[in-house]
Amino acid sequence: MPVSEAMISGLIVLERSGHDGLVAQLTSQLRRLIASGRLGKGRVLPSSRRLASDLDVSRNTVSFAFEQLAAEGYLEMSHGRRPVVMIDGAERIERVGAAASRVQPGKPRLSPWASKLRETDWPMSYLAPLRPLRPGHADAREFPNEIWARCLRRSAVRAGKRELGPVNRPRLREALAHYLATNRGVRAAAEQIMILPSAQAALTLIAATLITPGDEVWVEDPGYPGAAAAFRASGARVIGLGLDEQGMQRVVGTAAPKLIFMTPSHQHPTGRLMSLARRSEFLAACRPGKTWIIEDDYDGEFHYDSRPVPSLQGLDTLGRVFYVGTFSKVMTSDIRLGYLVAPPALRDTLEIAQRHIGLIAASNIQEALAEFIADGHFLAHLRRMRRLYHARRDHLVGEMERRLGDFLEVEAPSGGIQLIARLKRGSADRTAVKRLVEAGVETRALSSLSLGRPRDHGLLLGFAAWRENEISAAVRTMASCF
Ligand SMILES: Cc1ncc(COP(=O)(O)O)c(C=O)c1O
Repeated sequence: MPVSEAMISGLIVLERSGHDGLVAQLTSQLRRLIASGRLGKGRVLPSSRRLASDLDVSRNTVSFAFEQLAAEGYLEMSHGRRPVVMIDGAERIERVGAAASRVQPGKPRLSPWASKLRETDWPMSYLAPLRPLRPGHADAREFPNEIWARCLRRSAVRAGKRELGPVNRPRLREALAHYLATNRGVRAAAEQIMILPSAQAALTLIAATLITPGDEVWVEDPGYPGAAAAFRASGARVIGLGLDEQGMQRVVGTAAPKLIFMTPSHQHPTGRLMSLARRSEFLAACRPGKTWIIEDDYDGEFHYDSRPVPSLQGLDTLGRVFYVGTFSKVMTSDIRLGYLVAPPALRDTLEIAQRHIGLIAASNIQEALAEFIADGHFLAHLRRMRRLYHARRDHLVGEMERRLGDFLEVEAPSGGIQLIARLKRGSADRTAVKRLVEAGVETRALSSLSLGRPRDHGLLLGFAAWRENEISAAVRTMASCF
């Protein structure tokens, strides 16, 4: 029922000790009166002076509420005149109600991209709190947070003085180009380096830029599920290639695919190193501009038994390799920074795509990281973690062999942050994983990392993120479950 002018103030109840301020309360009550149609379109409201006196509030309180409602389109205000209601609330609500009643409840119709993503269970496990011995994690407790906080602070203080614009900050690009050249044998100009929120973002960006639905992509099998998920979602036909002692096995005699995804430094999940001969074979099979390789060097910094093997990207002289890295493993997983070294021919397109998708890392954090690297903290942390993770790998291998040797065959990797242990009997790795999770130990079933019929059964276990006493406790729990 429409309301007379005298009644308006009677419909408003303001709580002076309420949680919301008077302006917020008055604004929302007037909004509701208009939306419900009780103050109809064309209705002239009392002046701010009059309403303020009726409600016993200051005139400013009423003026602020009127201004807010005018900004939202509910009222029109013009100088020297009383506010006028601009919306016919009753009519609008009726229309919205009628439309809503015609909508059938049901499943939203997703895009092919989102539907494909829903078909994979990756990365749902990351929603749960971190528990020993979840693979793929660095030890965040060992990260030099005080030093990092100083870099962040200095970067924030300088924020007003630096050039706005470049989404891939030049200082970080330079620092990374130098680090990658000297430590990973990557050959790249600083301008080829794109800074992204994660390695996964790099895979999504590459897939969005290169894949036409139906294109073939080769991946390792077993392999990294995040990569297969990104390519599948883009409509690629993802083919898993098995492994031998030299790494991913090449398919001979078939047409080369659009993309080949590989983890040659430490194959995910087996930790194996791809031989130089196999790297050269894959490179030779790639015609420039037709077939591209993605080298995912997610934890190539960690090597324990031998010198690190230089990147595959460094062997390529024809610009066919994307080199992907992440700071999740070398620093901590919540740093949310990764990078992509783009082949020169695709650099500009990838940068356009990066801006469109919005895969841009915060400038402050990029600048802080540039300083962290330039001042030597990054390499110092890496050296310390290499020693620590080496000892933890040996500890986990020793504990598993001692307590679980009858059930599991441990494959000690020469580097990385995780290892696999194959079941000596049977193939019930998923059942084992379930039982272990209930007991408080988190692992991943090897068979769940296969694309087709699993070739391997066993467990993938992380050793980097846990102290030796935590590793021992987890292995004791595992022994009680087997
Ligand atoms: C092989 C491999 N590549 C990439 C990633 C993803 O790294 P990010 O956390 O930077 O997306 C992971 C994470 O576990 C990984 O195992």
